[in-house]
Amino acid sequence: MDKVRVGIVGSKFAANFHADSYKRNDKVEIVAVAAIDALEEFSSKWNVPDTYEDYNEMLARDDIDLVSVCVPNFLHHDVVIAAARAGKHIVCEKPLATTVADAEEMVKVCKEAGVKLFYAEDWVFAPALNRASQIIEEGGIGDVLYIKARETHNGSHSPFAKKKSTCGGGCLIHLGIHPIGYVLYMLAGENNPPVEVVAKTTGGLEKNYVHKDFEGEDWAAGIITFADGRNALVEGNYITVGGMDDVVDIYGTDGRIIVNLTFGSCLDVYSRKGYGYAIEKADFTYGWTKPAVDEFFNLGYVEELRYFVDCVLNDTAPKFGVDGESGLLAMKVVEAMYKSAEEGKTIPLDLKV
Ligand SMILES: NC(=O)c1ccc[n+]([C@@H]2O[C@H](COP(=O)([O-])OP(=O)(O)OC[C@H]3O[C@@H](n4cnc5c(N)ncnc54)[C@H](O)[C@@H]3O)[C@@H](O)[C@H]2O)c1
Repeated sequence: MDKVRVGIVGSKFAANFHADSYKRNDKVEIVAVAAIDALEEFSSKWNVPDTYEDYNEMLARDDIDLVSVCVPNFLHHDVVIAAARAGKHIVCEKPLATTVADAEEMVKVCKEAGVKLFYAEDWVFAPALNRASQIIEEGGIGDVLYIKARETHNGSHSPFAKKKSTCGGGCLIHLGIHPIGYVLYMLAGENNPPVEVVAKTTGGLEKNYVHKDFEGEDWAAGIITFADGRNALVEGNYITVGGMDDVVDIYGTDGRIIVNLTFGSCLDVYSRKGYGYAIEKADFTYGWTKPAVDEFFNLGYVEELRYFVDCVLNDTAPKFGVDGESGLLAMKVVEAMYKSAEEGKTIPLDLKV
């Protein structure tokens, strides 16, 4: 195989950054897209030859090697299972599912079908976070003691994010899943599983700070403790104005690293009238702004999808952090954090990494 033939399920926000990343890779051909809307717009923008309203029809083709699952969270389960049964390798967007039970079944079915399940935690491939890891490996900040990580913005654009039944919760599962996936990737290991969590969230609807129409919480924070005693503070919220804020703060015995994935642009622009686009969820572009130079690259999507394509071409298994089991692990941590917030206590974990 010298090219990977891709089918994308979904046609909007995530589907666009998948298509953008695939189009930057000459080892990929996007052959089809399946979605319930925006098919024409998507297929002409990315020059995709075939469109389907029913993803099962697309999955029935025998010339597709890899399927990108870019549909709302509650549909990940059904689409992944259908793709696995059709013998396709799968990239599944975050969170892996809306429940641990669904995520467990997805991992099991993919294993039984002998297909690769890639969990799309793009932070694992964000160039700035990888540069931080390199500095840590060189001993630049000594031993890592503690990580703080957050993804926050002013509320998801997707109507599916507003309902617990279609999202799985609120900003914790939808945004907090990135910092959770990242700190698990950085700190967890076979001998160092997460052993307990404690979390707080707003209560959804009227009990939210801002988003009274969101069934899930609009603010969440929690601490994950690992077997070796280290802690990670993770946060997701929808109360942040001014653009998406993805920040990681790594404390070492001999140094510290601050990674600003979204406001870390090397561009400073002052505009009296404004211009097209600065960064995700920024309200306006006039005055002083820091537009991203290449947002999809900075957030890790481009290298993430290049890595998954190479795994298919070379028939190699994905690494810890972006395999199906890592998506499942992140879901188990999320579910325990919701339990902690609900019961107002620390929740012990008994997890294998
Ligand atoms: N990794 C990231 O940073 C990141 C960023 C944004 C979204 N996401 C994830 O990507 C997924 C999609 O999010 P989005 O923002 O693109 O959502 P969206 O609401 O913008 O788009 C949803 C898409 O799903 C399609 N769809 C809905 N029901 C379908 C069905 N039955 N069959 C086929 N297609 C169907 C719609 O046509 C639409 O194209 C979510 O799981 C989200 O969490 C990840």
